[in-house]
Amino acid sequence: MTNENIAEPTGFAALGISGQLLKATHAAGFIEPKPIQEQAIPAQLEGRDILGIAQTGSGKTAAFALPILSKIIALGTKRRPRTARALILAPTRELAVQIEETVKVLAKGAHISTALVLGGVSRHSQVKRIAPGVDFLIATPGRLTDLVREKDLILSDTTWLVLDEADRMLDMGFINDVRRIAKATHPARQTALFSATMPNEIAELAKGLLHDPVRVEVAPQGTTASEIRQGVIFARTKQKRQVLSTILADDAMRSVIIFARTKHGADRVTRDLERDGFEAAVIHGNKSQNARQKALNGFRDGSVRILVATDIAARGIDVPGISHVVNFDLPDEAESYVHRIGRTGRNGQDGVAITMVDPSENAKLRQVERIIRMQLPVLADHLDQPDPQPKSREHNADRRPEAANDRELRRDGKRATGGERASKPAGKARSGGNASNSNRHWPEKTGAPRPAGERTPDGAKPRKFRRRTRKPAARAA
Ligand SMILES: Nc1ncnc2c1ncn2[C@@H]1O[C@H](COP(=O)(O)OP(=O)(O)OP(=O)(O)O)[C@@H](O)[C@H]1O
Ligand SMILES: [Mg+2]
Repeated sequence: MTNENIAEPTGFAALGISGQLLKATHAAGFIEPKPIQEQAIPAQLEGRDILGIAQTGSGKTAAFALPILSKIIALGTKRRPRTARALILAPTRELAVQIEETVKVLAKGAHISTALVLGGVSRHSQVKRIAPGVDFLIATPGRLTDLVREKDLILSDTTWLVLDEADRMLDMGFINDVRRIAKATHPARQTALFSATMPNEIAELAKGLLHDPVRVEVAPQGTTASEIRQGVIFARTKQKRQVLSTILADDAMRSVIIFARTKHGADRVTRDLERDGFEAAVIHGNKSQNARQKALNGFRDGSVRILVATDIAARGIDVPGISHVVNFDLPDEAESYVHRIGRTGRNGQDGVAITMVDPSENAKLRQVERIIRMQLPVLADHLDQPDPQPKSREHNADRRPEAANDRELRRDGKRATGGERASKPAGKARSGGNASNSNRHWPEKTGAPRPAGERTPDGAKPRKFRRRTRKPAARAA
């Protein structure tokens, strides 16, 4: 950001943002609009429905919040009891809380009332807060449905509806609630759907909610932020704990979020980390809302260096300065990979994403590579090494084993050099038993995009990508 830019407040003003809203936007440090904001704000100000696709960390929140705020401010302050003018739906409570924070910052001084409706916390205080009517309601669908059912909230005045993380909101776990909620809103409402991913089958469902939408696609859905350096480490499940402790010993891993597929898995990773001498907080759906928000806040304020999470923290969470994302295992849904790694490399910052892959996860890895349209470079391969012997290593950081071929990765987060791979002759069967990894054929320029579906002559039986079966998203509220 240069002084020249600050002196020239044409960016957001040129998009149609003015007055106090423009002042607050600038005060928040938003001077130059991001591409998704540049494209989506004017269309929404014109009253158009939007399907907005842009990479993680690219400013989608302000892209939907600013035009709605602008219109609400222009309307003045008349509100009816128990109504909400704008409704933002999000898949997790933590994301709803964060969106409210952003809206408050952007609308500072503009007399906009906001409220949160989400599960896991007192219902009474939420009902009280919306009783006089609010401008901006941010909610998770479960609790919202309860409040509407009990007539504590009336949606008939709601003329703006946003689904943040729209593909998630239209997933099996939420779709019925979302449809019911949408039906209860004003018939002439304006609708906006935003996400970094939008599988075709979900985009079809989205059509039912949108009226003659503008599709704003800053990058094809599934595109990962270019600032994130990504790579995989091949390690059997039994090796992963040791590999993780090894890479975490590097000081460059300043602020790390580790994703595990299950709640139980997240707890186990956290326990093992503690035994290996690392302090870590954990966030997943079996924790109380207080504990969840406390873990996230600690991570946000820097008092916690390592956060272990399930996919509950994969979408939307904006913690500036996360240096690394580690996937302890691959997610069930390939899209989650895009969102998980998108917790780093946000808003132009650099980030590193490391994914540990057991041979049993190869099919999932292929699905991920298919949706991100690139093949991930191999940072290290431990499959020809024996499993670690169980022994007590508690609180003994000095004795943490170190895998030689993680060295380079640990130093700067970059992939290992081609030499490492070259030292493993193609076709050599590994002690891990899965020969197909050893002769994956990597492109000349590692990480260069390659056509989706193009697989390598790796000796493995050619197989089609399995049809993805979608698992119901956990209800957030
Ligand atoms: N125009 C802007 N100028 C400066 N910073 C911005 C601007 N727009 C957004 N940001 C900042 O960029 C970060 C990412 O924004 P945001 O959380 O809206 O991304 P996103 O696209 O919603 O990502 P995700 O897909 O992960 O939800 C935030 O910290 C936000 O404050
Ligand atoms: Mg977002």
